[in-house]
Amino acid sequence: MADANSNPMLQPLPDGVVPAEVVARTEKRWLRLMFGTLVVMMVIVVLTSAVAALHPPSNVEVIQASTLHLGGEFAESNLGTAIEPDGSATVRLIAEQYDFVPHCVEVPVNTPVRFRITSADVVHGFLLPHTNVNTMVMPGFVAEVRTRFDHVAEYAMPCHEFCGLGHHAMWTHVSVIDKNSFANQGPIQRTRCGRK
Ligand code: CUA
Repeated sequence: MADANSNPMLQPLPDGVVPAEVVARTEKRWLRLMFGTLVVMMVIVVLTSAVAALHPPSNVEVIQASTLHLGGEFAESNLGTAIEPDGSATVRLIAEQYDFVPHCVEVPVNTPVRFRITSADVVHGFLLPHTNVNTMVMPGFVAEVRTRFDHVAEYAMPCHEFCGLGHHAMWTHVSVIDKNSFANQGPIQRTRCGRK
């Protein structure tokens, strides 16, 4: 019969080797921390989606990028802010190297607003800080984001998707104004933001 001391499993661990129970305990602790973090993040995603309408834009709608200017929804005369029969506002914009058309749009406060944006060339980005509006603008697709502005504000909106050498200078202006001032503006004035 072998001597108990000659069995390596029964001998004390050498210095510096962590016992298996300690390793298992530590791993369980990390596992709990990881699952906890996951749960917290899932709760944040669900809550912001339900309460603040923060979610990835999900509109999948194709459009021919090369013929935008020839007619249809994104013809130049149709761009800017339009009021729908139900009182909501629809804003149509084209993003192209290196500007948004129109360069400025006015929208009424406390009104449901639907942005419909497409690109005439490459991928651009459209984001209004501190709102749920944040979308990529892809050629060949119409990006749609719905929001509502509850106070008068000015948004200087730089393109936030690198789109070429003029990217840094590409921006648009969204001006949220009170309903009366908005009603007094014609479609052209709504794209001038107070400029004569
Ligand atoms: Cu358009 Cu960057």
